[in-house]
Amino acid sequence: MQTLFIATGNAHKVGEIRSFLGSGFRVVSQKEVDLRLDPEETGSSFAENAAIKAITWARHLAFGAQVQGVDWVLADDSGLEVDILGGAPGVHSARYAHLETGQPGNAPDALNNARLLRELSRFPVNRWTARFRCVLALSPVRPGIPGEVLERETRWFEGVCEGRIQPQPAGVGGFGYDPLFIPEGETRSFAELGASVKNRISHRARALESLSIGLNREG
Ligand code: IMP
Repeated sequence: MQTLFIATGNAHKVGEIRSFLGSGFRVVSQKEVDLRLDPEETGSSFAENAAIKAITWARHLAFGAQVQGVDWVLADDSGLEVDILGGAPGVHSARYAHLETGQPGNAPDALNNARLLRELSRFPVNRWTARFRCVLALSPVRPGIPGEVLERETRWFEGVCEGRIQPQPAGVGGFGYDPLFIPEGETRSFAELGASVKNRISHRARALESLSIGLNREG
């Protein structure tokens, strides 16, 4: 059985990834190791940021003894793209509210959601179409693997979930923008629909689907 190290401190993402991959993989999360790496997400795309996280962790796990038997590092970079806002908040989804005030780091979900609704209030609700996008970067972990090989062998898997933003948050499930996002074909938000529906149709589920097809193909 292959071991995947999930390079994220976001417990919600870990939960969704775990529940998708089920018993097919041994999954180790960042929380379970005594090591904190917080590479700066300086990329201008989800793919670049996912690779920064995956490669940084893969280098450490290949040269250190913190976690034994890891075959792959998996990193998730994801966010919300709203059409009428030109694709914002996009790669800035986690720190959207703080970008406005100049505070460093990620902002609380409630503040990000409040900013989103404020920005959208200039436009009619029927134009609030949006999508969640998730890019997973998968890097191999092998003792002593040269950096350039690691970078060359890093692969990406993408998933998108189309939908729209609603004017009032609703529901208590999930995280981030889930209370505001209604996936296509539904009338309720991700936060109302709950984990079983979200884990079937979300951007992350779709990216994980292509990841598991890719990994299984290799055996
Ligand atoms: P990252 O951790 O740098 O990839 O930032 C991801 C941010 O995008 C989160 O903090 C959320 O604001 C948003 N996001 C990503 N995936 C989801 C999701 O499944 N539901 C709600 N918000 C999400």
